[in-house]
Amino acid sequence: MRALATGPRVALAADARRDAHHRVAREVAAAAAPRRHVVGARRDAHARSPGPSARWPPPRGFATGPPGVASAPPAVVRASASDAPDRGPGFGLGSRALDASRLDARGRVPVGARTVILGIETSCDDTGAAVVTGDGRVLGEALASQGEIHARWGGVVPNLAREAHESAIDDVVARALAAANVSPENLSAVAVTVGPGLSMCLRVGVVKAQDLCHQHGLPIVPVHHMEAHALVARVGDGETANESNESNDDDDDALGRAPFPFLALLVSGGHNQLILARGVGEYRVLGGALDDALGEAYDKTARLLGLDVGGGGGPALEALARRGDPKAYRFPVPLRRRKDCDFSYAGLKTAVRLAIERDLGKPADGDAFARARGLSDDDDASEGDAEDPSFSAEETARRDAVRADIAASFQAAAVKHLEERTRRAIAWARESLANDTKPEPSGNLSCVVVAGGVASNATVRATLGAVASEAGLPLVLPPPRWCTDNGVMVAWAGVERFALGLAEEAPSAEQVSTPTEEEPSRKTRREVPLLPRWPLGTKDARATGEVKSSKTARIAPPLRGVSG
Ligand code: KG4
Ligand code: ZN
Repeated sequence: MRALATGPRVALAADARRDAHHRVAREVAAAAAPRRHVVGARRDAHARSPGPSARWPPPRGFATGPPGVASAPPAVVRASASDAPDRGPGFGLGSRALDASRLDARGRVPVGARTVILGIETSCDDTGAAVVTGDGRVLGEALASQGEIHARWGGVVPNLAREAHESAIDDVVARALAAANVSPENLSAVAVTVGPGLSMCLRVGVVKAQDLCHQHGLPIVPVHHMEAHALVARVGDGETANESNESNDDDDDALGRAPFPFLALLVSGGHNQLILARGVGEYRVLGGALDDALGEAYDKTARLLGLDVGGGGGPALEALARRGDPKAYRFPVPLRRRKDCDFSYAGLKTAVRLAIERDLGKPADGDAFARARGLSDDDDASEGDAEDPSFSAEETARRDAVRADIAASFQAAAVKHLEERTRRAIAWARESLANDTKPEPSGNLSCVVVAGGVASNATVRATLGAVASEAGLPLVLPPPRWCTDNGVMVAWAGVERFALGLAEEAPSAEQVSTPTEEEPSRKTRREVPLLPRWPLGTKDARATGEVKSSKTARIAPPLRGVSG
């Protein structure tokens, strides 16, 4: 009997994400608080042979210590741009820092209409690729979703996700390139998500990007998944280009629709964050998730309500909520007494579960729950949404109405929480910017960006629109298909980082080869640096929230810390 979310191989989506982070990190990480995880490296082989960073020529701006032992975040420092801020770690995906011949006098890469970047995304359960120009034209995009695969197990199963990425990646990249009518040798660079996410999934995209870059001599741009979610709000309309070497900071703002500094509410399956974005790589985290992210809460609630989650728990719950009364249940709006910008959805989730058990009956176990949904032993959990046929038509209608009311009431409380935290974060962001005079004033808050998978939700979009307009700010919402994971956001983050010189020269033959097998009993795998747990920025001093200690273990340094 196949059951929802039970049995050793089955993990709920959110738990799978979290557990996989822990488990995979355990498998691959060196014991001593590593700064960078090298996935696939045999630990003993790693100890014998120099790591990728040790193989590099004394790299300008690259941290030279082997992965896992650096006491400070590895940093790219461009010699030709000593005044430029340090915007993030040098990574080791490529053979060395970008060649000086690519950089202008300020250490930047001239980027514009003729710059063409391929972006690759494989951090969770969507295989995405896209080709975007330096002035923000999306030439081609392709996506393979795994919703149906994981719905069958009640959530994302990391091994299955990896397999699905492996079988989709070549085709997705080929489709994006074909749609763009660009051949790989004509690309300017390849950008790829290196974290945060599931290590075994991230690896698939990174290996593909490294192979392409090696084969065609292209620079490689490591990208932070959540930064990509935020920066997709800056994808331009092809109107502007800083093709010339005369680009200045003002041009940065002209690159896209959300000028810096902006406030971003990032809501996805694994993250709930409010960040003040002052520039590329310059993020202050005003609030984060103390427990579940909102996407997780949507996914779990959808499953508790027995919905067909093949197309995603969030969209299924949103659709059901449209038929319900948001005031039918008074679910608690989380953290009202805490006057900060953190999020918590665990209490709301429990309240919803109790309401379901009270008004719809407690499923004795997963199988009973499946039966209650009208699924037989051989049915896939994704195949139906039917009630037990033994219910009378009247009872079925009552249950359906209850489920819709619970969905609508859950959504109302969940989105109210977003609203309250975002309202406070706008005030915090403005206060920060007002006090922010060093090295120069950052300017006024330009807009509110809402991005990440949950930002495709119509209620979230409408509610946050009202919050922004009440504060006199524009709301910038990426189109729904760029809110959920996609290649465009990675390609665009790649454009923005490439423009700042934050890329590496093509990987060497050694980096893309699998080490020879010294001991036949042991499997050898190629070394691929990843950051499965990578904070986007440093926490604001006003943010008091503590994350569970299990969540703080083996966390990489922030993408970039903003002082103060
Ligand atoms: O950003 P994303 O595609 O992947 C992660 O980085 O996690 O976000 C996926 C999350 C899932 O939890 C999904 O249920 C949620 O976003 N989601 C939604 C909607 N569409 C996707 N949640 C609520 N309403 C939606 N329409
Ligand atoms: Zn995402």
